[in-house]
Amino acid sequence: MRLKDCVYVLTTVLIILIWYFFINWSKLQEVAKQSYEVSDFVTDCDNPGLFKSHFGCCPHKHCPVNHFPFHLHSGVANVVAAKICFNNTIIMGGIRNNAGQGLNIVLANGDTGKVLRNKNFNLESRDPQELLAYLKTLKPGNIVLVASYIDPTPKLTDEIRDIFSALGSTMVKSLKPRDSWVFAGAYGIKEASPFEKLIRNDVRNNAYEDWPEMGEVIGCFPRISENE
Ligand SMILES: *[C@@H]1O[C@H](CO)[C@@H](O)[C@H](O)[C@H]1NC(C)=O
Repeated sequence: MRLKDCVYVLTTVLIILIWYFFINWSKLQEVAKQSYEVSDFVTDCDNPGLFKSHFGCCPHKHCPVNHFPFHLHSGVANVVAAKICFNNTIIMGGIRNNAGQGLNIVLANGDTGKVLRNKNFNLESRDPQELLAYLKTLKPGNIVLVASYIDPTPKLTDEIRDIFSALGSTMVKSLKPRDSWVFAGAYGIKEASPFEKLIRNDVRNNAYEDWPEMGEVIGCFPRISENE
């Protein structure tokens, strides 16, 4: 009788242990998955740590002649700022640490590839006139690179949206609060730019609760010859 009781108790303990292990195992896996996703963007190539620190853009992009490689990614939730690379050089974000909330915008000469300006516009705290003035410095043949962080929409007036549309954006008109947006266009572009991504803020499907997945575009921008 006593042996039978013993076996019964042991079996029960074993079952409880296995059950406990399985519950924690799935939790552990979840944590591992989450930290993997976090490390995915935190250990960006330009971040010292596991990867060697360097000033190039990651991934280094090779393009055909008469094309400029570029890489844009919007911010990640409210944790990692946006990044803009042009000609395989970080212009905003990453180790430069000059990207911020709102819109990050780089202007470049589409013929020579020279970067003309870069600036962050946090329209939550600043006057949209500053952004309008900045966009009005654009000349035909200039390339425009945009990456959002946290929220691209405060004070994004119809006038500003119209300018981005004229630069080749087809999505700026439907931007809503906390969407992720990246875009590359040019002054004088005759058709819609293929270099654009909009990821909708949708609380039910967001990658990071209050924020959607980051948007990313890596491409080769065709050179805009001034003689054309
Ligand atoms: C673009 O990158 C190429 C290759 O690294 C370099 O030779 C060239 O000077 C760069 N252009 C500009 C305008 O920085």
